[in-house]
Amino acid sequence: MQSHEQLQTVARETLRKNDRGGYTLPTQGLYPFQWNWDAGITALGWMTFDPARAWREYETLFSGQWGPDHFGGANDGFLAQITFHQDSDTYFPGPDQWGTDSLAIRTSSISQPPLHATMLRWMWKQAVRTSERDKTLAPQRDMAEACLQDLLPKVIAHHRWWYRCRDPQGTGLVVNIHPWETGMDNSPAWDDPQSAVLPTQRPYVRKDLNHVDASMRPPKVFYDRMVSLMDFNSACGFDPKRIFAECPYRVNDIGIISILQRSSIDLVALCQEFGLQDSATEMQQHVDRTQVAVESLWSERWQQYVSRNARTGALLDVPTSAGLMAAYAGFQKDCADTVDSWLDETLYGIPSTRSTYIGFEPLRYWRGPIWQHINMLIAVGLADQGHVELADRIRVDSEILLRQQGFHEYYDPTNGRGLGGGEFSWTAATYLYWIEPNASR
Ligand code: GLC
Repeated sequence: MQSHEQLQTVARETLRKNDRGGYTLPTQGLYPFQWNWDAGITALGWMTFDPARAWREYETLFSGQWGPDHFGGANDGFLAQITFHQDSDTYFPGPDQWGTDSLAIRTSSISQPPLHATMLRWMWKQAVRTSERDKTLAPQRDMAEACLQDLLPKVIAHHRWWYRCRDPQGTGLVVNIHPWETGMDNSPAWDDPQSAVLPTQRPYVRKDLNHVDASMRPPKVFYDRMVSLMDFNSACGFDPKRIFAECPYRVNDIGIISILQRSSIDLVALCQEFGLQDSATEMQQHVDRTQVAVESLWSERWQQYVSRNARTGALLDVPTSAGLMAAYAGFQKDCADTVDSWLDETLYGIPSTRSTYIGFEPLRYWRGPIWQHINMLIAVGLADQGHVELADRIRVDSEILLRQQGFHEYYDPTNGRGLGGGEFSWTAATYLYWIEPNASR
């Protein structure tokens, strides 16, 4: 069992080791580029000991954002799942696979859960608190203010992209067009919708199996379908209208919907604070619409929100941790009792798929293992809604795991063993921002 001091040192070293001068790798080898939602969580970690570096992570991430001049402009505001600042041959599909060679900074052509306004608001609060506590640190607040003034219009554009391109009919529920967009790549919730995708016939070489045992990674047929969806996207010239209409995969993911909802709520608050009243009003309208629409994703069986196959209209009645971010999103039902039951069923926090579900697999990607940043989002959301004890139970479970095992990509919920990539950035950041006893969130 490592002490908090040791763990804090290792967490900081982990971020420094993975630092590529402006962006942080999730881990070396397995993920050699900048990932979208990893960057947001990782910035929280940097914020606890090097605020300038935290803001830099965000500048670098948004340097890859698509604008009005990219691919006809219809994707203005798009922020990619992966930004390829440098080449690497340890990952598939790498920079040459997505059809984005014409970009100055190449990116993938799908997005990831848009948690940024929330992360930025938390960073802003931290900067304000620090400068109030110690007046000599006032420049930190000035830096934060200047960075936010630059970033806010970009984040607003990003939210507009989600609502405009992924919910063109204004239903209040955005869709995603690739399982990797959800960040929960291989969740059993996608088994039904992805079975409609024709596997690619083109040859390619996977690289993930060079880093991690096959028992923990998705099977070949899943990859064949992922490649097929990636190629479909570029064959459409990234035209969002065509993709929305014709993509063989279209899902209302409760994870993205919850994270976007919370982010829009935080964006409203930031816009109000920074004098952007019109954008605040615009985002509030989206929040109000989603608040009502999300009730159609309630599962009586599992007593939580779930996802839906937007092509067939069928509810994907699978209990995953994505549906437990209800308190975080401020939805009508906060799911606290359901979270409580999940915690009774496993020893080490919240698994990605409920352990009593028939498709639960403790080792395989997003089919059972625990991801710490998800625990953090669920717990912070519960605490915000007044479920302080329950939130602390999740935090303590996570603390035990990290003190025993260090900073892995994910953990086996049946025995706590650390799995996947090692020296993992967002796990270390989660420790620094949320678990470390002096963390001032
Ligand atoms: C995997 C995860 C995804 C994450 C990425 C980098 O693809 O499923 O959520 O962003 O790794 O950590």
